[in-house]
Amino acid sequence: MCGIIGYVGEREALPIILDSLQRIEYRGYDSCGILVQDNSADGKFQVHKSLKSIAQLKNNLAESEYTGTIGVGHTRWATHGVPARRNAHPHFDCEGEIAVVHNGIIENFQALKEGPLSNCRFKSDTDTEVIAHLTKKKMIKTDSLEGFELQLKEAVKACLSELMGSYAIIVTAKGFDGLVAARQDSPLIIGVGDRENFIASDVPAVLEQTNRIIYLEEGDIAVVKKDSIYIENNDSEVKRNERLIPWTTEDAEKGGYEHFMLKEIHEEPKAIIDTLRGYLSEEGICLGLECDARRILMVACGTSYYAALCGKYMIEHLAKVPVQVELASEFNYSDFVLDDMMVMAITQSGETADTLMALKKAKRFGCKTVAITNVVGSTATRIADDAIYIRAGLEIGVAATKSFIAQLVIFYLLGLFLAKMPKHRLEERISDLELMPLLAQVVLDEEGENIQKQAGYLSNYANAFFVGRGVNLPIALEGALKLKEISYIHAEGYAAGELKHGPFALLTEDTPVIAIMTPDSTYDKTVGNVKEIKARGAPVIAIAEQGDEEVEKYVDRVIRVPKTGAIFSPIANTVALHLLAYWTAKERGCEIDKPRNLAKSVTVE
Ligand code: F6R
Repeated sequence: MCGIIGYVGEREALPIILDSLQRIEYRGYDSCGILVQDNSADGKFQVHKSLKSIAQLKNNLAESEYTGTIGVGHTRWATHGVPARRNAHPHFDCEGEIAVVHNGIIENFQALKEGPLSNCRFKSDTDTEVIAHLTKKKMIKTDSLEGFELQLKEAVKACLSELMGSYAIIVTAKGFDGLVAARQDSPLIIGVGDRENFIASDVPAVLEQTNRIIYLEEGDIAVVKKDSIYIENNDSEVKRNERLIPWTTEDAEKGGYEHFMLKEIHEEPKAIIDTLRGYLSEEGICLGLECDARRILMVACGTSYYAALCGKYMIEHLAKVPVQVELASEFNYSDFVLDDMMVMAITQSGETADTLMALKKAKRFGCKTVAITNVVGSTATRIADDAIYIRAGLEIGVAATKSFIAQLVIFYLLGLFLAKMPKHRLEERISDLELMPLLAQVVLDEEGENIQKQAGYLSNYANAFFVGRGVNLPIALEGALKLKEISYIHAEGYAAGELKHGPFALLTEDTPVIAIMTPDSTYDKTVGNVKEIKARGAPVIAIAEQGDEEVEKYVDRVIRVPKTGAIFSPIANTVALHLLAYWTAKERGCEIDKPRNLAKSVTVE
């Protein structure tokens, strides 16, 4: 979704804003805009909007032309209106005195445009612009600066009370020595500095400047100045705790890799180690959950949904606790009967709108809720009764990779935790778990070159299928999602036994099939399926274990992963498929960290 940043302090705002925007460009990148208020009494607005990347903007904007110590910036993921300069933020009222940057969706913008704002001149197709016009309409003239601050805050509040939808906004007004921020169903944080403060849609935007973070809560409205932060909710002042965030700027940099995605795939072993370390102790597995779940419902979207599907197999296999997995966006509008289930929201960002809605629905039904997320303090953790953190570290690539692996690790832990097995058996299982980082590392070290070669081959095709069975079916789905989102090859994941029920009609020599062929109890069935696929002329690339020589008889190409028990095979298979997607996209010259039309965290329904 869109990324927003605001700065108020004593330093020049422009370089700080551009640097921050570049760090959160993964939130959306179809256009961008900056505003710097000059330091004159009138606080003239200097504005630049562009369809270029932030890097280009950095090169093109002369800092001397945009001087001032208060400013805002925005990087856009289009919802209302095509990517165009007129739709880039900030947006203004008719007189150009109030400026707004916004992430979210104002659902009743059309009604406002045609109703109370019908006499305003709109310059964009966005929903956001109504916020600037409406705030201006609510302002009452005043001469004192103090009076102005109060008026502006009250005007923003009055405006927000008429909006329907979601927003994280920063409002600035000519001549005002601060910024007004507010959030509803979209994340917004304040970075606390020394005689300067920052407002941003997410933490990486400000990490270079500060790791002291305040997370705004739903309905908060804040007036942020260089040496004060005032927050109110429901007309009363509130105190929000400051947290020290452990991420460093190094986490937010590529560290010598060409893309964040490749760096993050190479961090998969570390994500596994860190996640395990967080929850293993002398006593066994300590998830901090008081949990006696007899049934679990998992809600999630996208990659997290596939992780949850994998989690279902793991937990049912290890603990024999039934797990149901639902797409959050479907669950929210279904008549699903929620009884005594424990509801787990799987969301690496903790901000996905559909998943948050699902959590709220579960709470309304009185279910116990748990957020499984990578982001401390994210909205999901504040809605749910409990939180379990995956410890993947900061993930910047739009395509989730190491966070997916860390989610899988949590499900193994959860499965063992719920299994309540005797200590000696648990210890054996934990030893298996401790081998997982090594399995991931072996794929990176030993198979990287071969995977690049196979990617060169795959990159020539327009369509592909991924198939797997059992615990590796969700891994096939994940492999297909990753390939399509970054290489733009049309890819579909299927249960290996399902292709014959329709998709076979699409198989030709131009439709490669990537088959996960882990030697588990379904191996022979998968071999049968592969033979059927080959009989239709489609080339097959197998993901097969080292030492499985038989597989060579059935397929055209092989990617090798280390030997492991079937239940742990998703780890190595995932690393292989993440690399395959990466190198295929690279071969095709795609914008890997900024795939077309996507954004890292989807904060609209
Ligand atoms: C794909 C991807 C998305 C996310 C989905 C949910 O690579 O990253 O499919 O998995 O948008 O995001 P979270 O986990 O933040 O709720």
